[in-house]
Amino acid sequence: MPFLQVKHVSKTFGSVKALSRVSLHVDRGEVLAIAGENGAGKSTLMKIMTGVYQPDRGGEIWIDGVQVEHLTGTAHARELGVCIIYQELSVVDNLTIAENIFLSKEIANAFGFLDRRAMHAQTRQLLDSLDMHLDPDTRVANLSVGQKQMVEIAKAISNHSKIVIMDEPTASLSHHEATVLKETIRKLRSDGIGIIYITHRLEEIFDLADRVTVLRDGACVDTLPVEQLDRARLVRMMVDREQDDLYGGYHCHATQTVALEAKGLTLKHRTAHTAPVRDCSFRVHEGEILGFFGLVGAGRTELMEMIFGLRAYDGSIELGGRPVAIRSPRAAIGGGLGFVTEDRKAGGLVLGMNIRENFSLTHLEAYSTLQFINRLAETVACQKFVQRLGIKTPSVEQTTGNLSGGNQQKVVISKWVARSPKILIVDEPTRGIDIAAKADVHRLLQELAARGMAIIVVSSDLPEVLAICDRVIVVREGAIAAELPRSLATQHTVMEAAAA
Ligand SMILES: Nc1ncnc2c1ncn2[C@@H]1O[C@H](COP(=O)(O)OP(=O)(O)OP(=O)(O)O)[C@@H](O)[C@H]1O
Ligand SMILES: [Mg+2]
Repeated sequence: MPFLQVKHVSKTFGSVKALSRVSLHVDRGEVLAIAGENGAGKSTLMKIMTGVYQPDRGGEIWIDGVQVEHLTGTAHARELGVCIIYQELSVVDNLTIAENIFLSKEIANAFGFLDRRAMHAQTRQLLDSLDMHLDPDTRVANLSVGQKQMVEIAKAISNHSKIVIMDEPTASLSHHEATVLKETIRKLRSDGIGIIYITHRLEEIFDLADRVTVLRDGACVDTLPVEQLDRARLVRMMVDREQDDLYGGYHCHATQTVALEAKGLTLKHRTAHTAPVRDCSFRVHEGEILGFFGLVGAGRTELMEMIFGLRAYDGSIELGGRPVAIRSPRAAIGGGLGFVTEDRKAGGLVLGMNIRENFSLTHLEAYSTLQFINRLAETVACQKFVQRLGIKTPSVEQTTGNLSGGNQQKVVISKWVARSPKILIVDEPTRGIDIAAKADVHRLLQELAARGMAIIVVSSDLPEVLAICDRVIVVREGAIAAELPRSLATQHTVMEAAAA
């Protein structure tokens, strides 16, 4: 009897059938990967297994040999040994690591006071068992995303979880952090913990998983041991296109006309959380796709935020040969810049608004005359993008918060693209996006370049940078470490320049 099992689980949201009769099981000591396109139903299934959503009638959840009639929520699931780690981490920033781990189960000493020493010692032990050499008294705010995730995992283990669910855990981790996480997962597995692992990075599946369940359009396509799969077969199971369709060819559209030139850009106000960006000079041309590669924390995002008027800078910026002072995003947009931000929640989307409203948010003026918003034109334009990027939604009136993660990302991209900026900055454009949609985004960027748009792609995904960029700038510790034309940019040369 596997530890966790679901049978014939369906879930309907209004007119959307998110899951239909899905069955799967996972046991202690194994890694089950869940693969599928954006909107396939992966996150919904995990939320059902942890009581966040209730399944439609007829579905069954079995934990440790017992059918659970009504799973009331994550706390209930945790009590039964099933715990979920979300990508939006739930650790509390202004508490220490130990306080986070003991949140809601503090140890009291004989006098009824919190026994800080015992909490500290137990946390120490827990962190050591994960090869995490951090002081339990460190405030979580001072940790990197990867370290925060480790704290979540430590917390899960401290709750004696038998099954740990991870929904796209590596999406915002650096290469090194992702490697550490993989090691931790292997260790958990050998300690008898079962892992459900959702990812869009296929190499991680082959690296980590024992079995793979593929979902497509809310239905379970199949579950197979990883030995019986190769990349091509897995892709075929996930999407109903041939893999060849997934790779658009590369064409260079770069011209000699400089669209943007940055001279000696240096970050003005540095804090403990910003990279020391200094003396960055570069040009991007019309029709060019310029890549910015670097390890997480190298300062690429800060650099883009300076150009977009979100951070004060020293140095100068020229647009189309004319010096400009960019002191606000409004000024940047006025100068013809667009910015698809890395963090869709913070910068890109209002989750409570529907797709159409989010879509028009940055470019209202294009659709409004005399304060009157042309709803029809807006809807038509928005629908075009929904179709073009394959955004999975019943209509443009759907609340964006109800879209799957990858589909939210596509909305962010489309709203900026629709504004036709002269220079488009995209920061981690395909994070959380499935492989088929990734190809669509790459094709879209190529088309925009062909129309003369200058495009800056910031990405930690090296194969992506190498596939679509005409030129690659490598950022290391806040400075430009190398500039490589496409012909010289390889896995090796780029990584060598990026590594400290
Ligand atoms: N609360 C909700 N209300 C309405 N529809 C929803 C809700 N939650 C999910 N959906 C819909 O259910 C479908 C499955 O979404 P889900 O988030 O499970 O996909 P996913 O496989 O996790 O995708 P991704 O890889 O993009 O994260 C999508 O069409 C989504 O829009
Ligand atoms: Mg998801």
